[in-house]
Amino acid sequence: MQQTETIFETQFEEEVYIGLTDFPKHLSSKYFYDKRGDKLFQDIMDMPEYYLTDVEFEIFETYKQQIAALFVSGNDKFNLIELGAGDGKKTKVLLKHLVEQKISFTYQPIDISQNVLDQLEASLQDELPQVSVQTRQGTYFEALERINSDNGAKKIILFLGSNIGNLLHPQAIAFLQSVRESMQEDDLFFVGFDQKKHPQTILDAYNDPTGITEAFNKNILVRLNKELDGNFDLDQFLHWEVYNPETGTAKSYLVSQKQQTVVLNKLELRIDFKPWETIHTEISQKYDDATVAWLAAQSGLKVSHWFSDQGNLYKNYVFTKD
Ligand code: TRP
Repeated sequence: MQQTETIFETQFEEEVYIGLTDFPKHLSSKYFYDKRGDKLFQDIMDMPEYYLTDVEFEIFETYKQQIAALFVSGNDKFNLIELGAGDGKKTKVLLKHLVEQKISFTYQPIDISQNVLDQLEASLQDELPQVSVQTRQGTYFEALERINSDNGAKKIILFLGSNIGNLLHPQAIAFLQSVRESMQEDDLFFVGFDQKKHPQTILDAYNDPTGITEAFNKNILVRLNKELDGNFDLDQFLHWEVYNPETGTAKSYLVSQKQQTVVLNKLELRIDFKPWETIHTEISQKYDDATVAWLAAQSGLKVSHWFSDQGNLYKNYVFTKD
């Protein structure tokens, strides 16, 4: 690791190098989200097949009063901190309700994409100018350091969109534990967990017929071409989704359709692909109550409430410190 620290300019370069020289190959999903990736992901959220956004929106619409009541208990002003806020579509339902109820709070969205944060800030300025907003760019783990250093007011931490599912169980536990570390007695951690369901429903959400998901998955290669002076031929890679109903794990891959060599000039790296060799890009874990309870127990948290949509496709759980 000594050497890698000196030769790479950014964490992006280092992680790409490690991922593409590893076996099997992998790239981190946090690199989907540049300006084009943000737009493609918004298009995914608008697709009828990508039910996750719709059902979480439904939960917020249906239970905003109950959710707000949990957040406001006691009269203190609170900080609403959102990890991976994105375009804030679901959160805005709640923000609007809090504003209407004249509840005092600050909203602190954190996201890997500065672009999406700028859009969110501008749209809030326009739609809900009463909300005091403080954005911050960074990864979930960087975000936690910020939370830790921010003592005082009651914290409500939001982690929506089943973004937790982008972490394997051991990483998810480490993450939940560090959130727990940053929590005081009265703080709440409000997390969306996509539920196990008919496997075809899940496959359709991650492999739509119009090719938006394919374009989104391949956007990581577009970024490598652009930012690391690469020559990936997008047509020579397939978007492929698998879902294992036993473990609840959905995985996204890019599959090389032939033997090929790709160059990333900026990293002075040649990457050989065998025919049908894979690059793993994303995990989208699906859950049931027992798994969520197990994750909570492993992390020193307990489930105090939960909300689900009519169809039970999705649940938001409220965690407190155990
Ligand atoms: N975090 C989103 C999810 O897991 C990202 C996502 C949606 C995604 N569709 C995708 C990642 C397709 C890779 C491929 O639901």
